[in-house]
This record gives sequence, structure tokens and C-alpha cells, in this order.
Amino acid sequence: MKNSIDYSNNTARQHLAEKYAQIRRHSEEICKPLSTEDYVVQPVADVSPPKWHLGHTTWFFETFILLPHFPGYKLFNPQFNFVFNSYYETVGARVIRTDRGNLSRPSVSEVYKYRKYVDENMCRYLAGSSYTEDVEPLLQLGLNHEQQHQELLLTDIKYILGHNPLFPSYKENVMPKKSDNQEFKMISVKEGVYEIGYQGNGFSFDNELGRHKVYLNEFEIAHRLVTNGEYLKFMEDGAYSDFRYWHSEGWEWVKQQQVKAPMYWYFIDGKWMHYDLAGLNDINWNDDLCHVNFFEASAFAAWKGMRLPTEAEWETASHLFNWGSRWEWTNSAYLPYPGYKKEAGAVGEYNGKFMVNQMVLRGASEVTPIGHSRNTYRNFFQTHLKWQYTGIRLAK
Ligand SMILES: [Fe+2]
Repeated sequence: MKNSIDYSNNTARQHLAEKYAQIRRHSEEICKPLSTEDYVVQPVADVSPPKWHLGHTTWFFETFILLPHFPGYKLFNPQFNFVFNSYYETVGARVIRTDRGNLSRPSVSEVYKYRKYVDENMCRYLAGSSYTEDVEPLLQLGLNHEQQHQELLLTDIKYILGHNPLFPSYKENVMPKKSDNQEFKMISVKEGVYEIGYQGNGFSFDNELGRHKVYLNEFEIAHRLVTNGEYLKFMEDGAYSDFRYWHSEGWEWVKQQQVKAPMYWYFIDGKWMHYDLAGLNDINWNDDLCHVNFFEASAFAAWKGMRLPTEAEWETASHLFNWGSRWEWTNSAYLPYPGYKKEAGAVGEYNGKFMVNQMVLRGASEVTPIGHSRNTYRNFFQTHLKWQYTGIRLAK
């Protein structure tokens, strides 16, 4: 964004423009270590090509802000709505999700041109007279949406490179190594009526709204996450060969997929190693376990004679422990809070229509962008998925 823009001393708007520029730049910085070929592939349906993420987040600003609110805005390419619309039925037909990796065009450089074009127009829009404050919530949604895709970019890049037999490194030492070697202990929380849900004047997604009371029985929750070493003990004790620990669907998944370990663990020359963004490396056994799905999290808890916390328990106790290195599976189905209302129009499709057959995850992960986490944040995934940075916190 150019510094020469005159915001007529409107510092709030200038801050917004700077935040916009910073967040948009960060997505491109994430992609800097990639080679052009890395941008295009889609190894499984859930993993989108990096090129698609870069185009789709741009499409979001073009479709929901520039087109309806910036008079005279000319689409960069009218066909891009078909290519970069993710799931918004309101906005029309689109490339089906599983075909995102089949698109050799638009080229990577064309997508970067698209980003530049939309950013320049957003810059002009935010500095000009057509911007009004009532658009700010939509702009904040667009920025938070882009941050969600920044995490997806990293998890998808990890999948693309981590399933390549050459195990290429994305970047050396991309994340600070954490060795939480604390002894395991449980924190006790008294029974009572508590409140959960977002409260405040900042940004939240609509699925966090509708702060409400919940009654909780007395419970205990672990002060730290399950480690790689603890999960290895479970594996050595027959985790994946004993149906007693598993949900029925989970056991079917284990048998069908012949699962033996968390995602990215490879048994090589007599020892377990794992792929991280720096390449194929030894496993730090004290590090927080990562890349397990809901079935595995539940099975581990059952093996320990414990369970996963509910999302209400997690939120209520969240000030009593450190969180943020892994998305933590909860035992709560992803459902609307009391009084949940879908927004009018296309953005009403953002969260509400996914409230079926998914479980809530709480916290954040080491690849969540800074400033994009809250203890009321409700992430959600289907029970068999584990390419996100997912871990386990026990409760009883
Ligand atoms: Fe999206």
C-alpha cells in the first residue's frame, strides 16, 4: 500500500488500511519459499493448492467489498468468480473443490497480478469517499478470513511437501521448538453455572456469539497437552489393534486406512521419525503431540481412563492453563449457540451451514497467525481429519 494516500487525518481508517496491507503481505510471505510447482498440486480433496488460497482470499475482498461498495470497480477477470468461489451458493457456480488442483490457469503470476490489482483498488477505496464505517465489519471478516487461510496455507503446504517422497524442507526452523517437559497434573474446577461465548467490542465470528449460561458438573482438566512420548506408549500398548478404545466409526477408519500412527510419523530404519516444515526429523518426545484426529484423541483418552473436555469446560478453564500450540479436540458437536442467527446474504453461509457432523476444536496452533486467537474461538473439523495442527488435552 502506498504511503502517499491522504486519509484526511482519519487515523482509524489509516489503521485499517495498514492492517489490510500487513495481513495481505503476510499471505505472500508464507508462499515465498515455494517453487512454482508447489503452488498448483492438490494431493487430496481437503488440501487446496496454495495458488487457490491466494486467489480465493482476494476474490473474497473483490466480491464482498469492492464490487458492491466501490462504485465503478471493474472486475479483474469475470471468470475468476467461477474459479475462486469456495462454497458460496449465493454467489453462483464454481469449480468443484476436488478439481482445484486441476487448474494450471490462471498461472501463479496471474494470481499475483490479481492480488496486486485488488489491493490497489482496496487501497483507493479505503482512502476515498465511498468507504463508510458500516462496511468495516465486512472488512474485518475478510481480514480474519485471510488469516484463517494463512493457517490453511501452512497446513496444506505441509501436506503437499510432507507427502512427497523427497520430504523437501519448506523452511529451516520455521517454528520455535517447544519442549514442555512439565509433569502431568490435573486442574480441578468446581461445579456451577458459567457463561461461555464471545463478549466484547472486538471481532468475533458469528458462531461465537450468543453468550449463554451453562451448568457444569465438577471436572478436572489437564494443565498441559499430551506429548509425543505419551502417545507412543499408547501405540506400543496396541492402540491401533484394540477395538475397545475406539468409536465404531473410528475402528472402521483404523481398519480401512490401516492406520498405525499420527500423520507425518514414518517408521524408518527401526525408529519413528516425523516430517515437520523443516524436513524429515527426529521426533522430540516431550513436544506436544500433533496431527491426530478426533477418533485418535478419543481413543487415547479412553486408554488413559479419561475423556476429552467439552467445549464449555475448555472455555471455562482456559485461563488456568497455557493453550495455543495445538487445536484441541473437544467432545462437543459443532452446533449453534442459543439464539444463533445467520447473517443475511452470502456471508450467512460462512459458518452456519457447516453445523452438522463436525466436532469443535478449541485453542489455536503454532501456525495460527498472531492476533487470530481467542478463548471463545470455535474451530471445527470432521472426525477423521488430522492434517491440521491438532492435539489432545485430557479431562475427567
Ligand atoms: Fe475461505
